[in-house]
Parts: sequence; structure tokens; C-alpha cells
Amino acid sequence: MVERKGIILAGGSGTRLYPVTMGISKQLLPVFNKPMIYYPLTVLMLAGIREIAIITTADDQPQFQRLLGDGSVWGIKLEYIIQPSPDGLAQAYLLAEDFLAGASSAMVLGDNLFFGHGLTESLVVANAKSVGGTVFGYRVADPQRYGVVGFGKDGTVTSLVEKPENPLSDYAVTGLYFLDGSAPARARSVKPSVRGELEITNLLETYLADGTLAVELLGRGYAWLDTGTHASLLDAGNFVRTLEERQGMLVGSPDEIAHSQGWISDAQLGERASLFAKSSYGHYIGQLAKPA
Ligand code: TTP
Repeated sequence: MVERKGIILAGGSGTRLYPVTMGISKQLLPVFNKPMIYYPLTVLMLAGIREIAIITTADDQPQFQRLLGDGSVWGIKLEYIIQPSPDGLAQAYLLAEDFLAGASSAMVLGDNLFFGHGLTESLVVANAKSVGGTVFGYRVADPQRYGVVGFGKDGTVTSLVEKPENPLSDYAVTGLYFLDGSAPARARSVKPSVRGELEITNLLETYLADGTLAVELLGRGYAWLDTGTHASLLDAGNFVRTLEERQGMLVGSPDEIAHSQGWISDAQLGERASLFAKSSYGHYIGQLAKPA
């Protein structure tokens, strides 16, 4: 079986963060001690995915390449794809069609942060499913802002509605989508919405209609944060800082995860640590690189 490939959607215009994002991509901004894109990147790495395409605007692509390179420092393979204009999340599957070459995919939004005990296991389960799709539902206080899941009496998913005025539940679909190899062909059948975007909700609806969409609910022990406004960006940074300083462990470090997955050696991790010798991030990964 062809291995599942990853997509990080890191384009967009970031208008809710203006003027901050007039000169830099939102996904390159810091969330405490790491660039934002490290968090979605590590979600894919935790799922065991090693071949990943990063979709950005044309202007921002060189900066992402400077930051992340070809992925070899983490034992993964990164490719870059340009999204000429932000025409919606489902467009990613059209842009990545050649990269995917028929493989199933896991797409994560570049400004989404996931954290919680048991996350890795849920990701590995979703990764193992070869037909259909898996998305993750999360209870939110303001479902009107998201794609919302409707449930039947027996708990099965009956509908998905984008930004409903009267939501059928409080469960939003998070920005992480595990879809099979038919996603690009299905994306081609999606028509632009009134706001002119190819909506991911419409793409997911085609799986729902076929009875092949699983919605896994992430319980209250999880954090799903999006970082698209000034306040939510600061909140996410404080959240990461609180966890890391309390536990003395990093959240969302591709260096640590590559090492624990066995994709890089102690020596390779040590090289990264010496590159960052002056930062607390570097000190932490330096400890991991030390032979026991
Ligand atoms: P949004 O937060 O919906 O959009 P945005 O990033 O353009 O920000 P704003 O609303 O402030 O203008 O996007 C969610 C994520 O998806 C974000 O990481 C950017 C990315 N994205 C794309 O890469 N391409 C797109 O066409 C869209 C709509 C979003």
C-alpha cells in the first residue's frame, strides 16, 4: 500500500491579524518559542507521516523554505506548492494532486494547534484507515464560526454545515482531515460557495453521502486552538508556555518527535541543539540528545 502523505495548508491572507501579517505569513509567527507551523507539522509527524507538501502563497514560499528546508534534518521529505490565491481549503487537493499521485492524505491547517493525551493514538488509528475519511469534532462555545457536525438520534453523523446561523450541535470540525486517494477527484466536483471559496465542508459532504466519513470526537481533555486573531494567538502562546514551563517538556517540537520516531540519530539531534545553543529550545533538545 502507498503510504499516506501529508499536506500543510499555510497560505491564506491573515487579514484578521493585520497589520502584523502585512509583512509575514501568519504561519511563520511565533507561538511562544516556535514558529506556528511547527505545531501542525508535528501533528503529521506524530501520525507517522514523512512525506509532506507545504502549500503557501508565492510571496511567502522562500521564507518557509528557509525555515524548514527539505525536511532532511528531521528525516522527512518536504515539498512546496504555491496557492496563487486563497480560494478555499478544498483547493489544496487540486493543487496537491500530482504530489499525492493517488495516495491518501492527511491535511492540517497551518494555524491549528492540537494538544492532548491520546492524540497520537487517535492519529495512528485515522492513518490506518485506507478507505473514506476521518475528521475530528471538538466542542466549541461559538459553533457559528465553524463547519458544524449534526448528529442523528443514534449518534451517527447526519450533516455538516459551514458557519450555520442555527447550529445543530456545538461540535466544530477541526482543521485536520484524513482522506483517501479519491479526495482530488471529489474536490473537482466542488463548486465555489457564495463567498467564492471551494469549501472543505462540501468536499467532506461527498464522503458523508457515501457513508464513508468517520467523525472522531475529541473530548474535554484536548486543546484545539486556532491562532487566527490577535487574542487567540497570544492565548495559544501562553498555553504553550504554561504547559512547557510546568512540565519541563516541549509541545510541538519536530526535533524531539523526529528523534523519538527513530528518524534521526542522537548525533543529528545534537547538531540541531548546538545550532540553537543560546535558546531554551536548544537546551531542551540538547538534553534529549545526550546518551543515557
Ligand atoms: P483562515 O483563518 O480561514 O483564513 P486566513 O488565514 O486567510 O486568515 P483571515 O481570515 O484572517 O484572512 O484560514 C485557515 C487556514 O487555512 C490558515 O492556516 C490559512 C489557510 N488557508 C489557505 O492556505 N488557503 C486558503 O485558501 C484559505 C481559505 C486558508
